[in-house]
Amino acid sequence: MPRSPTPAETSIHSKTSTDSKIPKILVVFNGKGGVGKTTTAINLAAGFAENEPVLLVDADPQGSATWWIDRSQNRMGFDLVKETDPVLLNHLRQIHDYSLIVVDTPPALGSSALAAVLPAADYLLLPSPPAPMDLSALIETVKRIIIPFGVTHRVLLTRVDPRSLGEAIEAQKTLLEVGIPVCQAFIRTYKAHERAALEGTSILQWRGKNKKEAEADYRRVVEEIQQDWQTIEEGEAKQSEDCF
Ligand SMILES: Nc1ncnc2c1ncn2[C@@H]1O[C@H](COP(=O)(O)OP(=O)(O)OP(=O)(O)O)[C@@H](O)[C@H]1O
Ligand SMILES: [Mg+2]
Repeated sequence: MPRSPTPAETSIHSKTSTDSKIPKILVVFNGKGGVGKTTTAINLAAGFAENEPVLLVDADPQGSATWWIDRSQNRMGFDLVKETDPVLLNHLRQIHDYSLIVVDTPPALGSSALAAVLPAADYLLLPSPPAPMDLSALIETVKRIIIPFGVTHRVLLTRVDPRSLGEAIEAQKTLLEVGIPVCQAFIRTYKAHERAALEGTSILQWRGKNKKEAEADYRRVVEEIQQDWQTIEEGEAKQSEDCF
């Protein structure tokens, strides 16, 4: 059953409960602006919400995800809460009505919201265009901030020019060479993404030119992340078996 978006003003505090189910936390992050974080967070939340209850947390004071959802005429299948208070963001794990929480973050490495959310993350997805300047900044960030955390992470190449896919393939190679995991799928640049945001829908619901391609890109990412969760869960199950 699709869930209706909750009012953006609802605080995380009102959503915490003592139920025993602990949600997985997927944080979408890159210190750079305009790389496709919000577009990715919304479309992944909509994709995962087809199979499980999802909450999207807009932790960016700019409120782009909230702006997008506020324009929504139809339901996108997940709930939304805008929360930038680091104290409340620290309590994400206590929200137990959802099996997945997706967090959209601000483009600021030093933000207190980010500092609160990173330690809570089970999985970091790092959207980046494939251009060398974008990539080298991201590689530095991953080495300095992400690897020390030891949390599962993957770069997702976004805003890839459909006429120069070679650039994305080169970027994937570069990342793998420096030991940074990268999604096999990448997100191509289509006007469809801007239009979907304007119309307040995810790319899964949107109808228009290049919808099929734009939707397929995000569906592939959902599948890859689902496979990663499964591998992580199998590893954890094996570890606990080995303990007995
Ligand atoms: N694959 C894409 N194809 C075309 N346009 C895109 C794509 N991804 C994002 N955009 C557009 O690029 C702009 C920036 O995207 P988005 O807001 O998702 O980035 P962001 O990283 O969240 O930005 P910020 O750092 O400001 O929060 C938006 O206008 C969005 O519609
Ligand atoms: Mg954003």
